[in-house]
Amino acid sequence: MKDKVRSLLKQKKAIMLAHNYQPPEIQDVADLCGDSLELSIKASQTDAEVIVFCGVHFMAETASIMCPEKVVLLPQKNAGCPMADMVTPEALLKKLKEIPPMPVVTYVNSSAAVKALSTICCTSANVLGVVNSLEADEVLMVPDRNLAKYTALHTKKKIHFWEGYCPVHDSLTAQKVLKAKKEHPKAVFMAHPECRPEVLELADFILSTSGMIKHAGESESKEFIIGTEIGILHPMRKAHPDKIFYPVSKDMECKDMKKITLEDVARSLEFMEGEVKVPENIRIKAKEAVSRMINFSLA
Ligand code: 13P
Ligand code: SF4
Repeated sequence: MKDKVRSLLKQKKAIMLAHNYQPPEIQDVADLCGDSLELSIKASQTDAEVIVFCGVHFMAETASIMCPEKVVLLPQKNAGCPMADMVTPEALLKKLKEIPPMPVVTYVNSSAAVKALSTICCTSANVLGVVNSLEADEVLMVPDRNLAKYTALHTKKKIHFWEGYCPVHDSLTAQKVLKAKKEHPKAVFMAHPECRPEVLELADFILSTSGMIKHAGESESKEFIIGTEIGILHPMRKAHPDKIFYPVSKDMECKDMKKITLEDVARSLEFMEGEVKVPENIRIKAKEAVSRMINFSLA
């Protein structure tokens, strides 16, 4: 199946992108694995004609926002992100009427229609820089309340937040972290900013998924407790075979990130199935918010 996918990728002049949470066999065949920021930058820069996106819907949608001339395929159309579904454009418009005018910083884990109503996007890798780059004293952040609360601790701005959350990261409790720390007293605890404030308080480092992989390589420590979705253990162990990684909780599995199989990728490429396309009026506005973020990150 791996050979079939690689040969179809060549035949269709396609590039395969995979998020760090994808199943190992998907990551091992992909041209690039990364966090949301790395994947959206790669999608905006590739000269491939087709992008097969192994991740969840908002990631493929972001690629399509950036490259409308390319065919963007999501091999399983029901791979979504429950957090992205926690804010709709209607609800955001209602909120914007209730509060004074202020920039809207939208996490990439959101729909194109919500991005279209936003000032700038952010990811877990650049959120603090993005928010602090804005001139306004008050900012609305959607949809992740945990990411917003984390940001509030690192900025002088007043942060208004939305009541969205990632069910996988929000399920991690301080109690589970303390248990893991007790079991592995020498390990460094890295957490994703989608975790609750009381969990982040216990973290030695708060990082994006790729930030964690990079940090493990740079750190002198040999053992790490990983506070994010368990799929990341594969690229972590592959990149740093000399180090030991413990999941903080084996329950931290994102079902949506496990929906795509190699068979799905092959079928999608062979029949050009699962194209993700954004209506032009939404795409143009959403692109402004995503481009501002990418330009900020590349500056
Ligand atoms: P990263 O951008 O850190 O890879 O996170 C994406 C995500 O969906 C986290 O749950
Ligand atoms: Fe969405 Fe959470 Fe899954 Fe990431 S881990 S895709 S935020 S549900």
